[in-house]
Amino acid sequence: MANDASAVSDARSPAVSNDKLADPFTPPADSSLWRKNFLLGAATASYQIEGAVDEDGRLPSIWDTFSAKPGKVLAGDTGAVACDHYHRWEADVDMLASLGLEGYRLSIAWPRVKDAAGLPNRKGLDFYKRLLNRLKEKGITTFVTLYHWDLPQHLEDRGGWLNRDTAYRFADYADLMSRELAGTVDAWATLNEPWCSAYLGYGNGHHAPGLADGRFATQAMHHLLLAHGLALPVLRANDPASQKGIVANIGRGTANSASAADQRAAHLFEVQHNAWILDPLLKGAYPQDLFELWPGTEPLVLDGDMQTISAPLDFLGINYYFRTNVASDGAHGFRDVPLEGVERTQMGWEVYPDGLRDLLTGFKSTYHNLPPIYITENGMASDDKVIDGHVDDTQRISFLKLHLAAVNQAIKAGVDIRGYFLWSLMDNFEWAFGYERRFGVVHVDYSTQKRTIKRSAELVAKFLKERKARV
Ligand code: FCB
Repeated sequence: MANDASAVSDARSPAVSNDKLADPFTPPADSSLWRKNFLLGAATASYQIEGAVDEDGRLPSIWDTFSAKPGKVLAGDTGAVACDHYHRWEADVDMLASLGLEGYRLSIAWPRVKDAAGLPNRKGLDFYKRLLNRLKEKGITTFVTLYHWDLPQHLEDRGGWLNRDTAYRFADYADLMSRELAGTVDAWATLNEPWCSAYLGYGNGHHAPGLADGRFATQAMHHLLLAHGLALPVLRANDPASQKGIVANIGRGTANSASAADQRAAHLFEVQHNAWILDPLLKGAYPQDLFELWPGTEPLVLDGDMQTISAPLDFLGINYYFRTNVASDGAHGFRDVPLEGVERTQMGWEVYPDGLRDLLTGFKSTYHNLPPIYITENGMASDDKVIDGHVDDTQRISFLKLHLAAVNQAIKAGVDIRGYFLWSLMDNFEWAFGYERRFGVVHVDYSTQKRTIKRSAELVAKFLKERKARV
């Protein structure tokens, strides 16, 4: 019998071991995650789930253009239909609520809410109004990201994030959205992961718009951060009751050896991934080491820009996925040295929860004005299959438990972390990897649009229910 060992321990202490066997997720009793005000939610993004790209006056975005180009996205996938959330949003909100998730992080598609002349598109605005009103009716805390990478193509045609004017257009867009949606948004995030927009979009061409030049990357980053800084006071004026912040992805870089050169390489990796964004926001200056790594790429910065960019934040959103082990490349930079024998996900990313804890505690000592933090994304992709109506995503359950334990350790070490959003509520269009990579805690069958709650989501729901029931 497979259960011999458990039968023995059951006999000694039935309640505890039964619970452990049935539930590999629930955090230990002393974890801060039991605090009722620690927000647990799930995240999505417009282009990854909405579909309906031609409906109700939505304009093309850079991701429509990019994904239509052969060879840019795995299997030629596009976001044209995605999870059809634009039509299924009511059922999706019911599903979110049925899981007991307390927070929902979504993004607005800029090309849905403004026409090419910059005038409001009522039909697009109404979609988000209906969605946010329903979320509020369900008592769900709403985090709204204004820019999760779907830039209107007509702005890209005028230079996109290489054109300083795009930052001002973004502030106009933030103005419209915060006037229209005030009262239904608990927290506004200006940008999602400017590192990806600037570096993957303009530096190496892996993402839309697909340009590849180091100088483009730093200039695009500057305009993205400027857009953020210009939008902040607008959001504050129009919607004073909500929190305002930005979401940054962070990467852990570890050195392949104790040599000074490899240590320096790991430092430069983290400068490129973290300090490039966090230093301007929290110190008002770009890290000079960045330009040692990429000589001659200093962006054009006008007087006052750094002050605009470094205005105080109410929160900082942090997205964390994996670490990269690096060595010196023998010149000014670093090269990846993938470790053997470590656990990896469907993306090939290493499962490394300590990286999240170490980065968070490191930021607390580096940035004395570190704002309260929300983990706005964390999760993993696995090749999940529905078998007899169930999805047993064992690796994800362990991944989430380990990363939540890392968050708890960071809280215990004094970092002010107020919540955590699973990436993602449901499987969706994973950018250059299309639909093959499944990040959801809910499975999506793209041929029928049927949603199936995975085991990970059931266990998160069970924990939330237990937490809620506590006095
Ligand atoms: C992040 C993105 C998110 C999703 C996850 C896996 O970089 O913000 O949209 O693709 O990665």
